[in-house]
Amino acid sequence: MTRDQMTDPDSRTDTQATDGGRESLANNDLEGSTPTTEPLVDSSIDVDDSTGPSGSEGRTVIESRDLDVYYDDVQALQSVDIEIPAEQVTAIIGPSGCGKSTFLRCINRMNDLVDAARVDGELRFEGKNVYDDDVDPVVLRRKIGMVFQAPNPFPKSIYDNVTYGLDVQGVDGDYDEIVEDALRRAALWDEVKDQLDSSGLDLSGGQQQRLCIARAIAPDPDVILMDEPASALDPVATSKIEDLIEDLAEEYTVVIVTHNMQQAARISDKTAVFLTGGELVEFDDTDKIFENPEHDRVEDYITGKFG
Ligand SMILES: Nc1ncnc2c1ncn2[C@@H]1O[C@H](COP(=O)(O)OP(=O)(O)O)[C@@H](O)[C@H]1O
Ligand SMILES: [Mg+2]
Repeated sequence: MTRDQMTDPDSRTDTQATDGGRESLANNDLEGSTPTTEPLVDSSIDVDDSTGPSGSEGRTVIESRDLDVYYDDVQALQSVDIEIPAEQVTAIIGPSGCGKSTFLRCINRMNDLVDAARVDGELRFEGKNVYDDDVDPVVLRRKIGMVFQAPNPFPKSIYDNVTYGLDVQGVDGDYDEIVEDALRRAALWDEVKDQLDSSGLDLSGGQQQRLCIARAIAPDPDVILMDEPASALDPVATSKIEDLIEDLAEEYTVVIVTHNMQQAARISDKTAVFLTGGELVEFDDTDKIFENPEHDRVEDYITGKFG
């Protein structure tokens, strides 16, 4: 099987609409978070900023061990073990409802904002369990930014959208410089540099999503989580986002949920396949997953036998 022959079972049944609303809501809840300053999560986290892009690529940044998540009595993730490498793109694929978004939200503790959610097991970031009592989720989310399915800029200027996370976190610095840098990294600067005071909501959908990426980048995170970031966009805007994601992985660890298998195959280095019941069935190099997976269930999913 080649990548081009793959089908995309999820595209036949898009049940993501309610999902996106829930997540956007969760994101906006961050507005109520308490501003915090350094030190980051906890002094025992030894984030080695001296390792540049080339030095740290491939090192494990995020690791889960025996991770279970429940919504009230319903189990959404079952004993997930994974090690996500630095400065690569890791894709999370699987049918609707298999727990992809739930897993992503564990990484920066966005599930804290869901009352029914309960997390067991460990989720380590740079070796530190993010569920330890001494971890401040607001500080954690500065290191692990997030971009959602539906572009959700705030009803503020383009400039203020980018500086939003800095304000929340009480980050010092030359905001003009940070805004330009974040917009450049998000491949949006040239399109908006003369209209930084106009509303983020006046941009096209694809531009809005790149603005949200700039907003996530501005506080200088280590990890960027993306939950179906292109699924609401047209093909041209999608292709720009895909190019951007590959560029971002030069400097950031990117974890992207996608229901589009061709997209996972195109842009990711590693692919994790979750299947119904919240089980991580296979995690490997993307080429291996799509060309010669170990598990029949993964092969069946990828070839479109079910979804
Ligand atoms: N906030 C929530 N409250 C209750 N159940 C939820 C909530 N979010 C997700 N679930 C349930 O958890 C399971 C996994 O959902 P989700 O992580 O959104 O899957 P995916 O992103 O793969 O579509 C589903 O059965 C879903 O209905
Ligand atoms: Mg989802």
